[in-house]
Amino acid sequence: MSEEKAILTIGDKRIELPVFVGTNGDKAVDVSKLYDDHHLITYDPALANTAICHSKITFIDGDAGILRYRGIPIEQFDTPSPNFVEVAWLLIFGTLPTHEELIDFRVRLTNNALLHEGLRQRIELLPPSAPPMASLSAALSEMVCYYKNYLTLDDDEQFIEAAARMISTIRTIAAYSYRRSQGLPIIYPDPKLRYVANFLHMMFSYPYLQYEITPEVEDAMNLILILHADHEQNCSTATVRVVGSAKANMFSSCASGVSALWGPLHGGANVKVMEMLEAIYKGGLTPEHCIEAAKDKTNPFRLFGFGHRVYKNYDPRAKILKASCDRVFSKLKHNDPLLDVARRLEELALADSYFADRKLYPNVDFYSGILLRAMGIPTNMFTVIFAIGRLPGWIAHWKEQHDVPTNRIMRPRQIYEGNEIVNYIPVKDRVRVGSIQ
Ligand code: ACO
Repeated sequence: MSEEKAILTIGDKRIELPVFVGTNGDKAVDVSKLYDDHHLITYDPALANTAICHSKITFIDGDAGILRYRGIPIEQFDTPSPNFVEVAWLLIFGTLPTHEELIDFRVRLTNNALLHEGLRQRIELLPPSAPPMASLSAALSEMVCYYKNYLTLDDDEQFIEAAARMISTIRTIAAYSYRRSQGLPIIYPDPKLRYVANFLHMMFSYPYLQYEITPEVEDAMNLILILHADHEQNCSTATVRVVGSAKANMFSSCASGVSALWGPLHGGANVKVMEMLEAIYKGGLTPEHCIEAAKDKTNPFRLFGFGHRVYKNYDPRAKILKASCDRVFSKLKHNDPLLDVARRLEELALADSYFADRKLYPNVDFYSGILLRAMGIPTNMFTVIFAIGRLPGWIAHWKEQHDVPTNRIMRPRQIYEGNEIVNYIPVKDRVRVGSIQ
């Protein structure tokens, strides 16, 4: 809390409000007692200007295009990239793991990689065509039916075991959903393989043919997971916090995060980007048409993979992914015409005053799909991969909130604009005038 006060005047009232200052000097006016003390509420649709918590996990400076996990700049996770498991530990526990802690966590991940048979059978009951994000959200939520000791996590050992279970099993669920959609048998996790390699094995091996893991592909997947691992109070993480604020268990809270992430304005945008690039490549649209449609206010079309609530600069994750695409494509001697389409779209958008004036730049979803496609990941799994990456961030936020003794249930206010008192009318006397609102 700073010495400084903010002054709000309303009518003849002069109200002094406390001010918080973040590590980087950003200031926040504390309005939390405004209703109790003065019967006033604040209006901030979409919570665009409201801090909902204090956090030590991730720092973003949207104007400068800076992202740091526990203080470490995101660029330091690029080549040579640390392991995703290290980053997961860093986000959840606040420091990089020691060698012993890393080994211990890896063993826990290996021990928790198998799906409970009951859960596997439950997934089997879903139609093979089920959207993988729906299966994932359902399966994460149902996990507590099989591990009831995870319903309350007040003990450190219980928490770490539950976190390892969820981080490990999410891959198994994701890979199994994909296998079912393809009519392929389940491939069980291989305890000899590391986190990312094991995921690729469960996705692509056959009972009679082991998938050959290319180091470039493993590295690129590792990088993608790291870049998606946390992004402070984004829509899905804020959802996890809202649900968790009611003291809901960690599995249900994270399952809600999956549902929020699925939306096309959030993690689902990576699918929309690919649909857009494919439509352009197949000739249904030109990059120029796309740009014009995105600018046309009578057209609901948006340039997917562009714009961000917080970044008013190039998203640093998009920068890293764009460079990674070039690296991986040249190492694998892979060529994808969609990469050329994406580059052309970016070039047109960055040169256009509509995008420049609104500070709309490529976000993380713009290049991630092209990279995933190069690894043979089908489009309907893109947002699932995002969810695997984001899970440690959700867990870290759930834990940070859970550990605050003063946690209160999140419960926003509204500006009511409906009827004043209206009398009830018996059904026989009701007449509809006009249409239902
Ligand atoms: N294409 C065209 N215009 C856009 C775009 C876009 N992609 N993004 C924003 N704008 C315009 C808006 O129409 C608005 O214009 P106006 O001032 O003339 O009304 C202005 O830029 C500000 O946009 P808002 O919608 O107010 O920005 P907001 O912060 O609410 O939304 C969002 C951010 C949802 C990311 C938005 O930029 C968008 O829809 N982008 C496309 C979807 C996308 O890529 N989502 C992924 C985001 S990253 C992530 O979640 C992982």
